[in-house]
Amino acid sequence: MFTTELATVSYIGATILFILSLGGLSNQQTALRGNLYGMIGMTIAVLATVFGPQVTGAGIPWIIGAMLIGGSIGLYAARTVQMTQMPELVALMHSMVGLAAMLVGFSTFMDPEASKGFVGAARSIHEMEIYIGILIGAVTFSGSIVAFGKLSGRIGGNPLLLPGRHWLNLVGLLVVIWFGREFMNAHSITDGVMPLMVMTVIALLFGVHMVMAIGGADMPVVVSMLNSYSGWAAAATGFMLSNDLLIVTGALVGSSGAILSYIMCKAMARSFISVIAGGFGTASAAPAPAGGPAQPAGEVFPINASETAELMREAKSVIIVPGYGMAVAQAQHTVNEITKLLRQKGVNVRFGIHPVAGRMPGHMNVLLAEAKVPYDIVFEMDELNDDFPKTDLVMVIGANDIVNPGAQDDPNSPIAGMPVLEVWKAKTSIVMKRSMASGYAGVDNPLFYKDNNRMLFGDAKKMLDEVLTALKA
Ligand code: TAP
Repeated sequence: MFTTELATVSYIGATILFILSLGGLSNQQTALRGNLYGMIGMTIAVLATVFGPQVTGAGIPWIIGAMLIGGSIGLYAARTVQMTQMPELVALMHSMVGLAAMLVGFSTFMDPEASKGFVGAARSIHEMEIYIGILIGAVTFSGSIVAFGKLSGRIGGNPLLLPGRHWLNLVGLLVVIWFGREFMNAHSITDGVMPLMVMTVIALLFGVHMVMAIGGADMPVVVSMLNSYSGWAAAATGFMLSNDLLIVTGALVGSSGAILSYIMCKAMARSFISVIAGGFGTASAAPAPAGGPAQPAGEVFPINASETAELMREAKSVIIVPGYGMAVAQAQHTVNEITKLLRQKGVNVRFGIHPVAGRMPGHMNVLLAEAKVPYDIVFEMDELNDDFPKTDLVMVIGANDIVNPGAQDDPNSPIAGMPVLEVWKAKTSIVMKRSMASGYAGVDNPLFYKDNNRMLFGDAKKMLDEVLTALKA
């Protein structure tokens, strides 16, 4: 059993471990250690809370039972989920944080014991915490459910644009503020429930509306933004439960999610403010369904595996640009084999990683690290974009939107303004994909028709295996 002092010390220790964990996760070399810090911190946090002064003996079996059920479901989900489905899982988990914040808010309000001892200004602050906590929780919950639906293809990716949607949001906000006043002025629990319920319904609708208004190509930013919201929802829960660690942890998640959203906004040329306000990514034409056939816009020059190997052999410098297709094909190990072989032959091989390549932040870095590609040849887009004109060969493996010159040249493109890897500036580029289908944003890619570009059609893993065999021959 943890005394109050021991619980406080444990909370401080856990907070430090969480901060170290975030620091570790910012770099591939230290990411494993970062994860370990996070796991140890969370174990300490859970033990100090469950066996701490705030939980009475009778509640412990219930908590342990709930943890066993929740933990088993989480373990099963984490073990079975495909890497490409990770954003959906993350969205679903955010919804749980939002739901928890809502439920804690309602139970804190309904339970007279929980509000005991709050009088005067302290009571008003406590009620405000409940109101805001449920508000953030409800927006996070419904927004994350819709994000899950969109990412898993259960809900269409096209943005839903209601007429006068900004006015709708504004009216909703005013109603929420009005009922907040009613809630604060309520003299009994019964009087307070009605404004609380009205606000919850509006917040749920707002969450749905906010994410429905976002186009498919902008979903990555939304997931990271909901990550931030879930952090604030957890912090609000911490205030309601008077749990300092939950406040700090929630604030860490909230602010790191906001920073990640900002970085991704920059990577996709979106405005951070419009993301926070919701309903962004809709100014340009709605993206066509990803994977659909692109409009033919010129002649392409196909190439086969042995010709690709020949070009590789002749090159002195090669940049590999992986994308979502490499993840689908699970081609990263073959990519590493080819990299090793080329480096042995003295070729300067580097990797160029776009911040939103694949389907989640760091997707490509995780796959390359799994295949044991050396970290020091993996570069961010900004570190390497100026080097393409000096590069003999670029291998684009299952990437599409992130190498689309239309983002720079075509102001009407749905991805106009998104920074891209300028692979077409290399002497030769080879795009490896199965067909002429479009990528996630559903737009045609003028790169495919450039004179210095070649298309290696087929599954990335199969084609790279053939290239490897040809290289070894
Ligand atoms: P995409 O633009 O989606 O293109 C991937 C390409 O891979 C497709 O055109 C597809 O063409 C090809 N492909 C699929 N399976 C393949 C296989 N087995 N073998 C070979 N090729 C295969 O991917 P990207 O360039 O990585 O760009 C990412 C996109 O996803 C961006 O639009 C980004 O905004 C969005 N997004 C990113 C995230 C994050 S956070 N990274 C999250 C959600 C969405 P074929 O069908 O012709 O093979």
